[in-house]
Amino acid sequence: MNERARVAVLASGGGSNLQAILDHLETLGERRRAEVALVLSSRAGSGALERARARGIAGEALARPDDGDALLALLERSGIGLVVLAGYLKLVPRVVTRAYRGRMLNIHPALLPAFGGPGMYGARVHQAVLDAGARISGATVHFVDEEYDRGAIVAQWPVPVFEEDDARALSERVLKVEHALYPRVVDAVAAEAIALDDDDRVRGAFLVGPYGSAFALPRDDSNFSLGQEMDAALSF
Ligand code: GRF
Repeated sequence: MNERARVAVLASGGGSNLQAILDHLETLGERRRAEVALVLSSRAGSGALERARARGIAGEALARPDDGDALLALLERSGIGLVVLAGYLKLVPRVVTRAYRGRMLNIHPALLPAFGGPGMYGARVHQAVLDAGARISGATVHFVDEEYDRGAIVAQWPVPVFEEDDARALSERVLKVEHALYPRVVDAVAAEAIALDDDDRVRGAFLVGPYGSAFALPRDDSNFSLGQEMDAALSF
């Protein structure tokens, strides 16, 4: 990967994670190791495409999200080094996940490997957590392989589940930590501080939360510092 990785963000929905990534990279300024160069959506008129347009970033609705060859050609033509799924609801074709092995991330709004897999997205995830009576949920960032939500785990951040929660309240609490976590992981993977080994182990995987900040990430990686956002996100 180059000095600054060109990132494609794939999103189907509102794109609040895309926004968090754009904002964080802007805050890092010259220190950022990633650059969002392309936003792709499985839906025309998605909030994510709006946000890309507002920043002057190239954006496109995919006519055929299941056409892997076309998607791969587009990514390669655009010089994309890292693919970031942010609320992308389609399965990424195998030809693309293979080509971008170790260079494609997803965020899931629960602690994988629980509460993931086909059909587990949006409110359904949070409802399943509540129905199971789980007391902890959270956000998981993982490398993407050819199955939904099964790739190697890169980072997790737990949040509590409260007695009075409904799916919406829980999703808001989780989304808050997603926004703090995902942009930093994107930058760290772009910087190759985190990488997928040949044996599918993640070098530099970490956990954030009440256990004392970020594990196994170089402590001098100031791009990762959580600062005030960490405090805010942890004041549940
Ligand atoms: C997030 O909860 C993310 O974890 C999930 O879909 C949601 C996307 O939200 N994969 P947004 O489009 O980024 O606002």
